[in-house]
Amino acid sequence: MNKEEKYQLLQQQIAALIEGETDAVAIMANTAAAIHEAMGFWWTGFYLEKNGVLVLGPFQGPVACYRISHGKGVCGTAYERRKTIVVPDVEHFPGHIACSSESRSEIVVPIFSPAPAQLAPTAPSILGVLDIDSRQLATFDDTDRRYLEAIVALLAPHLL
Ligand code: SME
Repeated sequence: MNKEEKYQLLQQQIAALIEGETDAVAIMANTAAAIHEAMGFWWTGFYLEKNGVLVLGPFQGPVACYRISHGKGVCGTAYERRKTIVVPDVEHFPGHIACSSESRSEIVVPIFSPAPAQLAPTAPSILGVLDIDSRQLATFDDTDRRYLEAIVALLAPHLL
């Protein structure tokens, strides 16, 4: 299976996993596990916005930093810029937070709160980020970005 095919299956699996469950932590835990297993990443997990800081949420992989300030590291930068950041080589990302020295490349995807229609002109708030690390350089590309953005959009309504 190529990457595209793996992500197509994964997206279907996550849609099925979400159905019938309402607990946000449970959904994030299984989503992290499903992505991690299917794609063989080094670290896969969530940081959630709480009182102005990103706080560690459900994840798979080695222990990680608890708190990341807005604007700090790749996670805090994706949060602040409100867009997905793909980092081919973490050593070349100024301010990268090395939770693990094994991590070589990274993708961070913001999770937008689904805005009610009447608030549509207002920019949606960000509930947190999905952070994925790889032990290889340049693991992530536009295919990862596209599918992971679609996966977090599936999740977002269940995280409120
Ligand atoms: N590398 C991240 C920190 C989180 S850990 O890698 C799990 C960053 O710079 O935001």
